[in-house]
Amino acid sequence: MTHLTRRAFLAVPPVALLVPVAGGAVRHEPTSVGDSHRGPAAIASLNGLRAAERAYALMQEGYDLADCVVQGVRIVEDDPNDTSVGLGGLPNEDGVVELDASVMHGPTHKCGSVASLRGIRNPAMVALEVLRRTDHCLIVGEGALRFARQMGFVEENLLTESTRLEWLKWRENMTKEDDRLDDDERDAPVGKTFVEPGKAAAMAGAAGPVKHHTGTVHCSVLTKAGDVSSCTSTSGLSWKIPGRVGDSPIVGAGNYCDNEVGCAGSTGRGEANLANLSAFLIVESMRRGMNPAAACLEAAKRVVANSKERRLKGPDGRVNFDLKFYALRKDGAYGAATLFPGGKLAVCDETGPHTIDALHVYDTPM
Ligand code: GLY
Repeated sequence: MTHLTRRAFLAVPPVALLVPVAGGAVRHEPTSVGDSHRGPAAIASLNGLRAAERAYALMQEGYDLADCVVQGVRIVEDDPNDTSVGLGGLPNEDGVVELDASVMHGPTHKCGSVASLRGIRNPAMVALEVLRRTDHCLIVGEGALRFARQMGFVEENLLTESTRLEWLKWRENMTKEDDRLDDDERDAPVGKTFVEPGKAAAMAGAAGPVKHHTGTVHCSVLTKAGDVSSCTSTSGLSWKIPGRVGDSPIVGAGNYCDNEVGCAGSTGRGEANLANLSAFLIVESMRRGMNPAAACLEAAKRVVANSKERRLKGPDGRVNFDLKFYALRKDGAYGAATLFPGGKLAVCDETGPHTIDALHVYDTPM
């Protein structure tokens, strides 16, 4: 007889579940390998596998669950190579990094957020101070920076050499009507140019247009006692208009938890979440009995249905942006959904850190 490990068992492909609904009818609910998990867990966006592992470890050590998610997310904020979060996040149109983050604490149903915060690499930690030390939920811009300074955070330049060059390339190639030379307008130097070490790529640049990027890290935890907490942190949309705030610091949009139900978070095009309050929708769907992945898929479909503007559609009629949803239910079930195939959920539970596939709205890649 073949022996199935728990991990191998969980890897069995999902099937649709028939859920009884009012009037004797049944609803076909998509299922995920995370539906059957029970007990403590930490989940995260795929760039947050280390965050989930750290949050899970801190939970075992008895830390408050808001500290667990914030310290997990901090690993990604501190990573200069993740250009979607914290240090090394891609900047706004002026070349300045502006960060957004929120944290929610299930047992007290308190939240803390900061938005458009400049010069502080760990916005989630500042958000936690808002949660713990103020009566407010959200502090933005200059006020957030002043608050962070008062809390003892140290300012620094969050641009790395690599993100500065990426911004410069975007800025120079934005239009031929300005006085900055596009890549194809510059003559090659005659001989070598003298540049500081590490800055040589500035003149060469890579070919092709520089796209807008959205990226973010989300992490949620569930303790053995059934308490939840969640955190989302981001540098937001690259090249954004200064002061633009995305979904990550807006409770109910890019992050939400309710201790009676569970947590949800999101990464991707924040404007779509702001217009649909997706994280709140996911938690409320789980409250009505949906599995986490199915609830995420429902939110993804809602976003697609509400994306009515022509500019948000590709030639094939599908939306031209991506969005990913992550959810963790109070009993330990977890799941994720995306618009396009290929998405994954990072998980740390009693089997250790691993990933599972996300459900998706469309069957083929963007
Ligand atoms: N989801 C991150 C943002 O749009 O700001």
